[in-house]
Amino acid sequence: MGNCYPKPVNNLSSTNNSTPAIRSDVKRKEPMVQKHSHTAAEDGSDTGGAINGSGETVPPSGRIVTPNLKMFTFAELRSATRNFRPDTMLGEGGFGRVFKGWVDGVTYAPSKVGIGIAVAVKKSNPDSAQGLKEWQAEVKFLGKFSHPNLVKLIGYCWEDREFLLVYEYMQKGSLENHLFKKGAEPIPWSTRIKIAIGAAQGLAFLHTTEKTVIYRDFKSSNILLDGDFNAKLSDFGLAKLGPANGESHVSTGVVGTYGYAAPEYIATGHLYVKSDVYGFGVVLLEMITGLRVLDTNRPSSQHNLVDWARPALPDKRRLRKIIDPRLEQDYPSKGANKASELILSCLEPDPKNRPSMEEVVVSLEVINAIKTIPKATKTRTPQSMSPHSDRRYQSARQTPLKTRHGRGGVADNRSPIRSY
Ligand SMILES: Nc1ncnc2c1ncn2[C@@H]1O[C@H](COP(=O)(O)OP(=O)(O)OP(=O)(O)O)[C@@H](O)[C@H]1O
Ligand SMILES: [Mg+2]
Repeated sequence: MGNCYPKPVNNLSSTNNSTPAIRSDVKRKEPMVQKHSHTAAEDGSDTGGAINGSGETVPPSGRIVTPNLKMFTFAELRSATRNFRPDTMLGEGGFGRVFKGWVDGVTYAPSKVGIGIAVAVKKSNPDSAQGLKEWQAEVKFLGKFSHPNLVKLIGYCWEDREFLLVYEYMQKGSLENHLFKKGAEPIPWSTRIKIAIGAAQGLAFLHTTEKTVIYRDFKSSNILLDGDFNAKLSDFGLAKLGPANGESHVSTGVVGTYGYAAPEYIATGHLYVKSDVYGFGVVLLEMITGLRVLDTNRPSSQHNLVDWARPALPDKRRLRKIIDPRLEQDYPSKGANKASELILSCLEPDPKNRPSMEEVVVSLEVINAIKTIPKATKTRTPQSMSPHSDRRYQSARQTPLKTRHGRGGVADNRSPIRSY
């Protein structure tokens, strides 16, 4: 720990990103900078000089002047998590591991288990080339925003080449775990819609804030849930300022996660605000089917949920067959039909034809108001007709476009992409 010096950040102003390429063998991703816009991470200003113009030097520790964020010492976070004890680990992602810790509710000084407030401490993988950039983007975006549907960033630590982020602890973890983790209690329809509304509101806020922010990494693992299943978006490491001066899109290297990234973005590197709407449609499809967007354990025609399920969405009878059987048909048919219409519109190939996130919120509220209780006499969908019949399908994780970092020696089955 701390022995690995972060790799220098690439020259941030000279990247040619005209032709994004997808590679599955590259073990790191470097978001490219574009002419029209930049992420906060790509902007070296206001970061204590972490990234200079040539990208050569990354000092071992630093400070970001962001009001309302506490700057923790590494020792404090070590103490809050009992030396990052393995049994405090909440999960692991591209950036590194996430641990549960305890701090005083007022001073945020480390406290004993059960005393004060619980926090989630995300600790970067020291091998991560991307760690610093994403860490900076997270602090700059999330540290600035306050919204009930964005996870609260409490503070950060940058010391001895360690980058850490401290968030409010989200009691029920990620939506991904609830939908796909083996043995997870099925979430009822009404809760799924509630979660969708919360996540949609978070995206709508980002899209309509003073400077439009494109989230770029909307997926079920980045939707966290509090004790009442209120949804909050986390992970702003890939967030990007949206187009300005009347432009429709920003041109950028392709990063994100396979399956969720919009087709126009993968094909051209043109990132639209509506590219996030596509990702939302994918997550909503995962939520109503209970199936991961990508899963190579399914029969080959069903590897990609969008390709496989899209033709069934406009057809009410076929729709019934793809809805999550764990709902045991306890959902309003009309609500399901409307949800499938909404998914189809979000997945429109042309971003212009997708709804805005504000429109998505309105549609979801209409769906939420439909409370028809289904008849108990309904016949069940024959399990053999759907990919749900084999729950082994639930075990595979999706494949990201990015590799923020290795997984600390843990086998990483994700294939990153990188653009040039
Ligand atoms: N604030 C939090 N409260 C509770 N659990 C959290 C919190 N943040 C993260 N987690 C848990 O840690 C897991 C890993 O999160 P992380 O964001 O690092 O990776 P990921 O979302 O799975 O993948 P990726 O790196 O591609 O975003 C989450 O899925 C969640 O279970
Ligand atoms: Mg995440």
